[in-house]
Amino acid sequence: MSDSQDNYSDFGRARQTHIYLQGLAGRRPSVSANLAVLEQQAKAVMSPEGYAYIAGSAGLENTADENRAALDRWRIVQRMLCDVSSRDTRIELFGQPLPSPFLLAPIGVLEMAHSEADRAVAKAAAATGIPMIFSSQASVTMEDCAAVMGDSPRWFQLYWSKSNELVRSFVRRAEACGCSAIVLTLDTTLLGWRPRDLDLGHLPFLRGKGITQYTSDPVFRAQLKEPLDQGQSSDSPPLNLSTLRAAVEMVRHFPGSNLGKIISGAPRAAVQHFTATYSRPSLTWEDLAFLRDLTHLPILLKGIVHPEDARLAVRHGMDGLIVSNHGGRQVDGAIGALDALPAVVKAVDGAIPVLFDSGIRSGADMFKALALGAQAVCLGRPYAYGLAVAGEQGVLEVIQNLRADFDLTLGLAGCASIKAISRDSLVRDSDLH
Ligand code: FNR
Repeated sequence: MSDSQDNYSDFGRARQTHIYLQGLAGRRPSVSANLAVLEQQAKAVMSPEGYAYIAGSAGLENTADENRAALDRWRIVQRMLCDVSSRDTRIELFGQPLPSPFLLAPIGVLEMAHSEADRAVAKAAAATGIPMIFSSQASVTMEDCAAVMGDSPRWFQLYWSKSNELVRSFVRRAEACGCSAIVLTLDTTLLGWRPRDLDLGHLPFLRGKGITQYTSDPVFRAQLKEPLDQGQSSDSPPLNLSTLRAAVEMVRHFPGSNLGKIISGAPRAAVQHFTATYSRPSLTWEDLAFLRDLTHLPILLKGIVHPEDARLAVRHGMDGLIVSNHGGRQVDGAIGALDALPAVVKAVDGAIPVLFDSGIRSGADMFKALALGAQAVCLGRPYAYGLAVAGEQGVLEVIQNLRADFDLTLGLAGCASIKAISRDSLVRDSDLH
């Protein structure tokens, strides 16, 4: 079933029927419909470093567990006899129609999952009309992704670099390649303490991975000619075969001819410049005015969990929020993202849309987030696992499965449209016992 033939009002049943009919011909889906099982499928085909980078979270990974626990604390209370023969899962966000209330969260370094990386995701997103949020840490440039997406919606996620000139350049490029919103991620001004990556001594950026938005940028390239001054570590790795291999990877990831790259030393300079400048921990609310003045695109702040920050975002002219704790990758021991959602929704009081991510693994999860006031959710790790298992087709199937699961959950809960979902559709688990 392709999404061009899709039927907005009965998507879930059509997808289900398609899978069962394929089964009659002895064909099983390449990616599991159970997104928890899918993680195990991905683990089996990925390198230990790739799997650790995607699956890993901060510290004892308690926040990641809490994201799931927070979702599990709410139960859906379904209604009967509501005529759900036809269901409308469409929404509009910033004037743009979406077939289902979800987007693909920005995920960096997707080459750790599959060699086609972001390009495969962009094609799958475009085939379904589900927006892709391009990451600042992508493995394929935003322009190359946009080129395979036609008119399909895409947003750009920004990490605020130490250089405002680079921020300006990224935003201009995002505008030029058709991105219709900027997502400013606030929770990663420093990289979280991630034991899985630390134990493997593996950070992809040091090998030149996930920095293509930078190495393709004219402002960043010009900055490579300036001497580095800020906080450069004097630590350097011992020289051996492994360091040599990392250096080769670094060179391979940098655009241009091999000889030219080796002679100029640009790949190493790019990695050093990136690590010294990729984010600005000194960022404050006052800095947002620079971004606000820079673009007419809607700006969403990602990583908001405190209601006071939500109020400040509205006061500073932001257009939307993404309640998120980065899938538990930044602060361990933090509030489960869904537990943060109701207070943020209340604080915003309808002034701007609130989106949600961190822990979404099923249609029921989407339903719960919407019932607690999110306008839409972002899907994270599961599509990266789909990419690892079956490339573009894997991402396509993950998107179609989540969309189908949500559509059927919506109908079976007694809702014929998104508008019919309300806080009354849920009960807190603790109120039941
Ligand atoms: C992320 N996330 C992320 N967020 C962001 O704003 N920019 C980025 O480059 C990345 N990169 C990234 C890489 C990997 C491997 C992961 C798993 C996550 C966070 C992402 O957008 C989203 O908030 C989380 O993935 C949500 O958690 P779950 O649902 O995936 O557990």
